[in-house]
Amino acid sequence: MKIAVLKETAAGERRVSATAETVKKFIGLGATVAVESGAGEAASVSDQNFADAGASVGSRADTLKDADIVLGVQGPDPASLGGARPGAWIVAGLNPFGERARVDAYAAAGYEALAMEFMPRITRAQSMDILSSQSNLAGYKAVLDAAAEYGRAFPMMMTAAGTISAAKAFVMGVGVAGLQAIATARRLGAQVSATDVRSATREQILSLGAKPIFVENVAGIEGEGSGGYATEMSEEYQKAQAELVSSHIAKQDIVITTALIPGRPAPRLISDAQIATMRPGSVIVDLAVEAGGNVEGSVAGEVVSVHGVKIVGHKNVAGRLAADASALFARNLFNFLSAFWDKEKGAPVLDEEIGDAIRLTQGGKVVNPRLLG
Ligand code: NAI
Repeated sequence: MKIAVLKETAAGERRVSATAETVKKFIGLGATVAVESGAGEAASVSDQNFADAGASVGSRADTLKDADIVLGVQGPDPASLGGARPGAWIVAGLNPFGERARVDAYAAAGYEALAMEFMPRITRAQSMDILSSQSNLAGYKAVLDAAAEYGRAFPMMMTAAGTISAAKAFVMGVGVAGLQAIATARRLGAQVSATDVRSATREQILSLGAKPIFVENVAGIEGEGSGGYATEMSEEYQKAQAELVSSHIAKQDIVITTALIPGRPAPRLISDAQIATMRPGSVIVDLAVEAGGNVEGSVAGEVVSVHGVKIVGHKNVAGRLAADASALFARNLFNFLSAFWDKEKGAPVLDEEIGDAIRLTQGGKVVNPRLLG
């Protein structure tokens, strides 16, 4: 069983899908691991680190030759996988809705593509969940990015020259990223409030010492929707939410938006007119910018200024903490493959619940119901 770890080729991608730790663990299972030279460089894992852990390090062609499993952070270009075994598994964050043509190409080439972001949200899969591990870091980094762009301090400071008041931070969307953003903004000393459509988040917001801001008169999503995810809200809810946000947002210095709906464009939460009511110098970080954006006027990959408010739209925010993001991503991949490791076969054998959820292609065809439906 040969596992290949590729150097990422997407622009700006600094993460790597394995670390010295996971290489050792895969070898402990009986696999051999080949790493493309330079794969870990941007995440502070050197070729030597990989070699010391027992991997062979070489060219892409050597790495792929006879590989049974190809690991990636993002989906590799199907045309660049020559040498891998027929039917090889491609295990990565494959962005199945956004990169549908690439999925079709994996099928045509006979690969079995496994999309880690389709991991079901069940207890035993928590340690395999790349969305959680990466969102956590993104939520933290979003607050640091906001602090870096903000021309004022976060905490209240009493100095001999007078008092500086605490920044007011508002977190919209309280999933994994939002919870970490609340905790980070609190640690920096901001006064934090937060909102979500899932009523289950109210308690979580309170438990982090932040103030919940909720639409009260229109039904939101009680408890958790399917897999804990949100769905698109009714028009009535969206209107009530917009009114609530309008009155609250004018008083905020920092806004972090994280709202996502799987398989759909991100919901629009902040309009240009609302931005115009904010104090100049305020900062909005749109973590959903790559999914279409929660904020009107946010631009993927840029920091723009609108009505004197900075809108931060960094792409791949977890990747801006490449070393930690890689360490967690690599563990997610190891936890996944090792959980299904069949000792006799010396290879992973998936069960239906997880296998059918994440498998996109098999036997030359696209087989995932979420892509066929
Ligand atoms: P996500 O990244 O899909 O969305 C972020 C947040 O935005 C969610 O809380 C969502 O409710 C919220 N949102 C969507 N539309 C909104 C709107 N119009 N206005 C305001 N907020 C809006 O969600 P994420 O972070 O992946 O987690 C969602 C849930 O799944 C959480 O409860 C989390 O604890 C759970 N989860 C469970 C796992 C497991 O059991 N294996 C793993 C990861 C998360």
